[in-house]
Amino acid sequence: MTEEFIHNPVLGREVVELLTEVPAGTVVDATAGGGGHAGLLLAARPDIQILGIDRDEVAVQAAREALAPFGQRAQIVHGGFERITEIVKTEIAEREIVGVLFDLGVSSPQLDRADRGFSYWADAPLDMRMDSQQELTAATVVNTYDEAELAEVISSNGEERFASRIAGEIVKRRPLQTTGDLVEAIKAAIPAPARRRGGHPARRSFQAIRMEVNRELPNLEAGLGESVHLVSTSGRILVLAYHSLEDRIVKKRFAEWSGSSPTRTYVRKGLPAPDAPTASVRLLTRRPIRASEAEVTRNPRSQSVRLRCVERIA
Ligand SMILES: C[S@@+](CC[C@H](N)C(=O)[O-])C[C@H]1O[C@@H](n2cnc3c(N)ncnc32)[C@H](O)[C@@H]1O
Repeated sequence: MTEEFIHNPVLGREVVELLTEVPAGTVVDATAGGGGHAGLLLAARPDIQILGIDRDEVAVQAAREALAPFGQRAQIVHGGFERITEIVKTEIAEREIVGVLFDLGVSSPQLDRADRGFSYWADAPLDMRMDSQQELTAATVVNTYDEAELAEVISSNGEERFASRIAGEIVKRRPLQTTGDLVEAIKAAIPAPARRRGGHPARRSFQAIRMEVNRELPNLEAGLGESVHLVSTSGRILVLAYHSLEDRIVKKRFAEWSGSSPTRTYVRKGLPAPDAPTASVRLLTRRPIRASEAEVTRNPRSQSVRLRCVERIA
């Protein structure tokens, strides 16, 4: 397989375990990446097929190569999981969907390829697109959004407290050409004492701009929202989130579907609870599953992961 795309699947054992009890059928790997999770699952469950989706053509190619030994059991398509229903209908009209897996965010290979512009460690064009066919790039965000819009993106997606100053500095230096220019603007905007704390000063802003370029939160809302209608009874939906904003969306959706959220809120406020909405899933992870210390040492990317899972009940 494409060497640089070999992916170390985060919580690989836990993901496979959570899918050991689903009935035979097709699992949609909505973020196929390098085919890491898919490969583990195909090896563990001979009665399962995979429909893999990825919006990055390099990842699609890597997953196809990695999963080639499984022949017809693995099918990988290029596309965005925000269109998951349409993709599933086009690709596999009749089979049962017994699982959907979302392993969110960028992959290590995307971060490692300097020319894709995701990393603040290398100087590269301001790109950050997962899907190279899409028009919006980091250059467009950085050079054309007005100052208030930029500040909003950096503040809400990056939870960066110096968002306004950073947006102001970016606007002053336009046009920015490379990720190096962006790093310099960010560093200049953050006061020196704060620059020395909490990792690379550009980390939050890069993450925020990447999330904007790839519409990561709206896409998650859309794809996750559709997935509950796709899985059959006893099928499971698993999400690995690496960012508190993503995890909040997942937690809220799962609580709504399991009928646990409105009731709790009413009880806390001492109000009479309305009839609980009919639950469509059972919550299998009251608290998210985190990576063990050993896994974090092996794969630092797993440090921030939160895995949540529900099972379809009706
Ligand atoms: C963390 S990696 C997945 C790695 C994979 N689980 C593995 O074990 O090899 C995340 C992948 O999701 C893809 N991705 C992100 N947003 C997507 C979307 N909206 N639709 C489809 N793929 C997406 C990225 O291109 C990336 O390849």
